[in-house]
Amino acid sequence: MAGRVIVVAQQKGGAGKTTLAANLAVDMAARGLTTAIVDSDPQGSLGRWFMARRTTRDAQEGDIAFSTSSAWGVAYEAEKLRAAHDIVIVDTPPKIDADLRPALREADLVLVPVSASAVDLWATGGVLDLAAREERAALLVLNRARAGTRLADRMRAALSELNAPVARTVIGNRVALAEVMEHGLAVAEAGAKAATARSEIHELGDELLEMLTP
Ligand SMILES: Nc1ncnc2c1ncn2[C@@H]1O[C@H](COP(=O)(O)OP(=O)(O)OP(=O)(O)O)[C@@H](O)[C@H]1O
Ligand SMILES: [Mg+2]
Repeated sequence: MAGRVIVVAQQKGGAGKTTLAANLAVDMAARGLTTAIVDSDPQGSLGRWFMARRTTRDAQEGDIAFSTSSAWGVAYEAEKLRAAHDIVIVDTPPKIDADLRPALREADLVLVPVSASAVDLWATGGVLDLAAREERAALLVLNRARAGTRLADRMRAALSELNAPVARTVIGNRVALAEVMEHGLAVAEAGAKAATARSEIHELGDELLEMLTP
């Protein structure tokens, strides 16, 4: 069976696309799934993370394949990588325009992180419309939520009004998620302080795999 492609997309900058792409990739690889990541964002943050990973002793060596691509080159990279990997995760730049189309067309699932603020919520309709136009399944995930706050509850309710399923898993505002990136690591590889973030990422991974397995 060909590998599954998850495209992480959100127009709003800083929603957590790169952070989730990196951490989910390590989580998938730790499950024994062959995993590749593609950085199609000219900012190159996922690439920076991967390069840092190569020099980090604590990282599992060679567990993830990496490649970069232009917006229009995603189709070629994804096709090549999906033939040799179970899971391919594509990170995209913070914009939605015709450039995002080639990535969306490759997606078995579009993961849309929404940071817990109204501004992020307002930006979310565009990517969902584009995914719907390409007849791609999307999954919204609330990111950087402060547990038990009214804002997080309201955001979750507002997300459920949008035209896509909302992940059961909510990713909290976790310092560990920000800290590990610097060293090319993931919360799956960090100590006890990262335990909550680790289990949130793993639960989100469970949900993605459920949706990707017919
Ligand atoms: N759940 C979280 N808890 C704490 N910090 C987070 C979380 N998710 C993301 N961050 C932090 O928020 C910032 C933006 O995250 P990230 O770079 O992953 O977003 P992005 O959507 O890829 O941004 P861009 O649109 O610029 O590519 C980073 O500093 C990251 O460490
Ligand atoms: Mg990014």
